[in-house]
Amino acid sequence: MNKAIHKRVAVLGLGKMGGILLEALLREKILSPESVVGSDSDSERARLLGERLGISVTTDNAKAVEQADLILICVKPNVVKELVEEISPQISSDQLLISIAASVPTHYIEAALDAEIPVVRAMPNTPCVVGYGMTGLSKGRFADESHLDITRALFEAVGITITLDEKHMDAVTGLSASGPAFVYVILESLGEAGVKVGLPREAANLLAAQTVRGAAQVVLETGDHPALLKDAVTTPGGCTVEGLMELEEGKLRLTLIKAVVKATRRAKELLLAN
Ligand SMILES: NC(=O)c1ccc[n+]([C@@H]2O[C@H](COP(=O)([O-])OP(=O)(O)OC[C@H]3O[C@@H](n4cnc5c(N)ncnc54)[C@H](OP(=O)(O)O)[C@@H]3O)[C@@H](O)[C@H]2O)c1
Repeated sequence: MNKAIHKRVAVLGLGKMGGILLEALLREKILSPESVVGSDSDSERARLLGERLGISVTTDNAKAVEQADLILICVKPNVVKELVEEISPQISSDQLLISIAASVPTHYIEAALDAEIPVVRAMPNTPCVVGYGMTGLSKGRFADESHLDITRALFEAVGITITLDEKHMDAVTGLSASGPAFVYVILESLGEAGVKVGLPREAANLLAAQTVRGAAQVVLETGDHPALLKDAVTTPGGCTVEGLMELEEGKLRLTLIKAVVKATRRAKELLLAN
C-alpha cells in the first residue's frame, strides 16, 4: 500500500528526535526528499544530515516554513516560544504545526502565534527509528479531525498512535517517551543476569531482548492483562515463582511505578524549569 503523504514538510530542529523522525519517514517513503526542508541552528549538523538524507537544509527557520504545508517542531521545550515567534509572520491557517516538544501545551504555541493556526501536539519515542514507535497525539483549539488524520498518517508510518485529551500528554511523556530508557535498564539487567548464570554476553542480550519483545507482542495481540499472562508462565512450586519472589522483595513493581510518576512530574515542570 502506498502510504506516501504528498505534503511539503519543514522539520525545525534536526537533533536526536527530529533526525530519527526524518530518517524513518524518508526510509518508509512517507515523504520524498524533494518535499522536505530541515532547519537547525547548528549549520554543520544541518549540513551533515542534509547530505546523508538528500534533503535541503537551512539555518533560517522562517525560510524553511515559507512553502511548507506541515511544520514539525523538534526543538527543546525552552526554545519553542522563541522559535514560534520567529516563524509566526510566515504562518497561515492552511498550514499545520505539529510540536513534539515535551511539556509544551498547544495553547502556549497558539498564544505565541497570535492567530488561529491549527496545532497538534505529538509525543513520540525513539523506537520510531525502527518502525516500532509509540506516539501520543492531542489537538489544539484550532485543529480539527483532518489535522489529526494527517498527523496520524505521519506517525503511524513509524509505529502506532493513540489520540488522547491533552491533559494526559505529560503522562504519555513519563510512560512511553521516557519508557524506552526504563526498558533498556531492564534489558541491561537481564543480559547481565544471563552472564551471571553462565551465558555468553551476546546470547544473554539476545535472549533478554527477544523475551521482552515477545511478551510485549502477546499483550498487544491478545489484549490480555499482563497479570493473567504472568500467571500462565508461573507453575506452582516451579522456577518462575522463585524469580517473582525476588522481584517482589526488590520492589521492582513499585520502583517502576515511581519512575513513571517522577518522569511525568518532571514533564509537567520542564517548560517552567528552563
Ligand atoms: N529524545 C527523545 O526521546 C524525545 C522523545 C519525544 C519528544 N522529544 C522532544 O523532542 C524535542 C527535541 O529533543 P531532542 O532530544 O531531539 O533534542 P536535541 O537533540 O537537542 O535536538 C534539538 C535540535 O534543535 C536545534 N535547535 C535549537 N534551537 C533551535 C532553533 N531556534 N531553530 C532551529 N533549531 C534549533 C538544536 O541545536 P543546538 O544543539 O545547537 O541547540 C538541536 O540540533 C524536545 O522538545 C523533546 O522534548 C524527545
